[in-house]
Amino acid sequence: MALSPLSTSSTVPLSCGLQIPICGLGTSHDGGFSYDAIVYALTECGVRHLDTAKRYGCEEELGKAIEESGLARSDLWLTDKLWLEDHGYKAAKKACLDSCSKMGVKYFDLYLMHWPGSQKPGCSNREMRAETWRALEELHEEGVCRAIGVSNFMVHHLEQLKEDCSVIPHVNQVEYHPFQQHSHLMEYCQQEGIVFEGYSPLAKGQVLNNPTVLHIAAKHRRTPAQICIRWSIQNGVVTIPKSTKKERIQENFNVFDFQLEDEDMAMLRGLHDGRHVTWDPTNVE
Ligand SMILES: NC(=O)c1ccc[n+]([C@@H]2O[C@H](COP(=O)([O-])OP(=O)(O)OC[C@H]3O[C@@H](n4cnc5c(N)ncnc54)[C@H](OP(=O)(O)O)[C@@H]3O)[C@@H](O)[C@H]2O)c1
Repeated sequence: MALSPLSTSSTVPLSCGLQIPICGLGTSHDGGFSYDAIVYALTECGVRHLDTAKRYGCEEELGKAIEESGLARSDLWLTDKLWLEDHGYKAAKKACLDSCSKMGVKYFDLYLMHWPGSQKPGCSNREMRAETWRALEELHEEGVCRAIGVSNFMVHHLEQLKEDCSVIPHVNQVEYHPFQQHSHLMEYCQQEGIVFEGYSPLAKGQVLNNPTVLHIAAKHRRTPAQICIRWSIQNGVVTIPKSTKKERIQENFNVFDFQLEDEDMAMLRGLHDGRHVTWDPTNVE
């Protein structure tokens, strides 16, 4: 079998002309934040893509860790997300600029609407999404957000946004692991030129004891986490595993020197059971 062309610096092209690194490091309010692990990831593991959100409450610390790493801003891909309370034109613009200043940066490489539902009484979710998106379109034009996208958007949300707005999202970040594969949504995104980015690639740890995953891991002498991350990127899906532990970050990014075979990919594809380990946006109007 030919060696995989994927490497730590592999990227996926976005419709706006940028290239997003295929593997990034997640951060989250869930399970804690480690400043030292972020610095280690940037300085020792070659990590060049960080995913965060206002909701996670770690923007300031993340900004400081980036500064400590000594990396140039231009060498790093930074994704941030606005929270539900920031839906609406004015609120979205303010949220983005506030997040930039919290992190000590002038721009985000990617800025996402975190969730399709709003909490604004008297306004439909659809109206709020369109208003919020208008703000993101302007932030994109102004260069504050080099790419803009959405998260947890299902096909009906994307269809409505297409009718209501002018820029098609560059990215849709959605839960993606062997138990949750979103094949229909993925096909739709591909057809519309929207890059499909997967979050919770380890199903928050739930997939790591699965017998099929363990079997494939033993066969390749790799860990179950490495199998799941490799599976995502071999499917062309941008992935953002999260860990607060240095040795696990090292492990999770050490997935570029082996390749899953077609039969492994097929076995992992067969694990889909539709479960969500985070939140399920299917019924958000
Ligand atoms: N857009 C959205 O709505 C949304 C929702 C959820 C997540 N996300 C993004 O996606 C990122 C990842 O998702 P996630 O944190 O939900 O789930 P995940 O990456 O699937 O799993 C993280 C969990 O697995 C553990 N872990 C990490 N590497 C491991 C390894 N090699 N071996 C064993 N356990 C390991 C972590 O614990 P330790 O930290 O203790 O290592 C943590 O408990 C988040 O950080 C966030 O940036 C986005």
